[in-house]
Amino acid sequence: MTAPIKRNETLQIISREHHFALLLCWKIREGLKKNIEAKRIQDYIDWFWENNLIHHFEIEEASLFTILPIENELYKKAIDEHESLRKLFSEKNKTKEILENIAYELDAHVRFEERTLFNVLQILATKEQLQQIEQHHNYKILDDWEDEFWVSKN
Ligand SMILES: [Fe+2]
Ligand SMILES: [Fe+2]
Repeated sequence: MTAPIKRNETLQIISREHHFALLLCWKIREGLKKNIEAKRIQDYIDWFWENNLIHHFEIEEASLFTILPIENELYKKAIDEHESLRKLFSEKNKTKEILENIAYELDAHVRFEERTLFNVLQILATKEQLQQIEQHHNYKILDDWEDEFWVSKN
């Protein structure tokens, strides 16, 4: 059995944000299970996207994925998944099906980054590249949405 690779400190900044992304997926699924109207779920995820994920995607594309050569398969997969998620998040009218797809794709994407991509990145990244990530990281995750539909009884 191989020991898990200890996450580099700079990458931990980004990894912590993945925790919130996975929580978002869970909240969407809870909302759907409780038959919460799609609009209420959409309002929250639109807000979460605008305030958090949009920045997270940008820093990954500008400073993390670029550590890999453009022709690398993992690079292509990461970019393709961002593209697909951006499309889903920018849907003006999110149906239940779209909400399900967001929860499914975001969950899979974060797990791919955590289990595969980041392990490769932390082997390849130079000190300068890691410093660049920290310099560009200028936002904080906001998660204080008041309409907690995921704990609602109806
Ligand atoms: Fe990502
Ligand atoms: Fe990510």
